[in-house]
Amino acid sequence: MPSAGRLGGAAVLRLLLAAQAVAAFEPVTTTLVVGGALSLLTGYLYKNPPCRFSECCLVERPFDAEALKQDLEKKLFGQHLASEVILKALTGFKNNKNPKKALTLSLHGWTGTGKNFVSQIVAQSLHPKGLKSNFVHLFIPTLHFPHENQISLYQDQLQKWIRGNVSACASSVFIFDEMDKLHPGVIDAIKPFLDYYEQVDGVSYRKAIFIFLSNAGGDLITKAALDYWRAGKKREDLQLKDLEAMLSVGVFNNKHSGLWHSGLIHKNLIDYFVPFLPLEYRHVKMCVRAEMQARGSAVDEDVVSRVANEMTFSPKDEKVYSDKGCKTVQSRLDFH
Ligand SMILES: *[C@@H]1O[C@H](CO)[C@@H](O)[C@H](O)[C@H]1NC(C)=O
Repeated sequence: MPSAGRLGGAAVLRLLLAAQAVAAFEPVTTTLVVGGALSLLTGYLYKNPPCRFSECCLVERPFDAEALKQDLEKKLFGQHLASEVILKALTGFKNNKNPKKALTLSLHGWTGTGKNFVSQIVAQSLHPKGLKSNFVHLFIPTLHFPHENQISLYQDQLQKWIRGNVSACASSVFIFDEMDKLHPGVIDAIKPFLDYYEQVDGVSYRKAIFIFLSNAGGDLITKAALDYWRAGKKREDLQLKDLEAMLSVGVFNNKHSGLWHSGLIHKNLIDYFVPFLPLEYRHVKMCVRAEMQARGSAVDEDVVSRVANEMTFSPKDEKVYSDKGCKTVQSRLDFH
């Protein structure tokens, strides 16, 4: 806590000043007091190293909404709904001095539509080191929680980890990838941390952020987008309300969503369901261009078209949406 840190610093300073005053007439006491002050100072620095030398958890770090907005605009393509919801959710949460619960976002959509990418951008906007930060934690079910017969072990572990990490940094970020591969029930272990409690066993989780990523619901989103496209309507006119309710019900009733019959949905503990739309040919081209620019090379429209033409598109007749979104763009670009 920064306030505790400041208090500690002030106390040490007072001791040092006192030592100086005493030093004038009491050599033995002086040695003792100075020694005591020094060991206090060392202990304090050990527990609170200056931010220059190691990463600091600044709960009150000002949140730069404009930077996040620009990042999303520049790097994320074809996702007007996701951009809007993420920006609104984070800005509201970070500007609230006393949130009543942790922020919980559930990101849904086909592979390659930008869910991982967005969670990285969000993590970085909260902790500059992004996924490499000590305060950002990524859980991958197939890696961290692989065995179906060890669910209760995983639940204990998860509770312990989250409690430990939030105690160390209140604004910790937890990202759960591949929620659709998480065994049903595991995630309910963290329910108390997402609920409206002021504290759970002496720890407040209200400044933490939980992000779930899932392919589940991708089929529903695609169907809605396709219906819209077939009706000749503009993709950018698709509204969140057209998708959000359908998504939460669909995910709740999907056995392979990681949130199947989950108390998190049942109790309304997920603040936002964020839909990622399937990507069209023009969006794939945008991804290729961005990747070229990121590599510092000039944009060659010939190569852009060639890479985009190599992708496969669905449905069979209309070929509107890229099957893998922008997922294989990087490796294909290597090839060209
Ligand atoms: C924080 O979470 C990580 C997993 O990401 C875990 O390995 C570590 O033990 C946790 N830290 C504490 C203090 O619980």
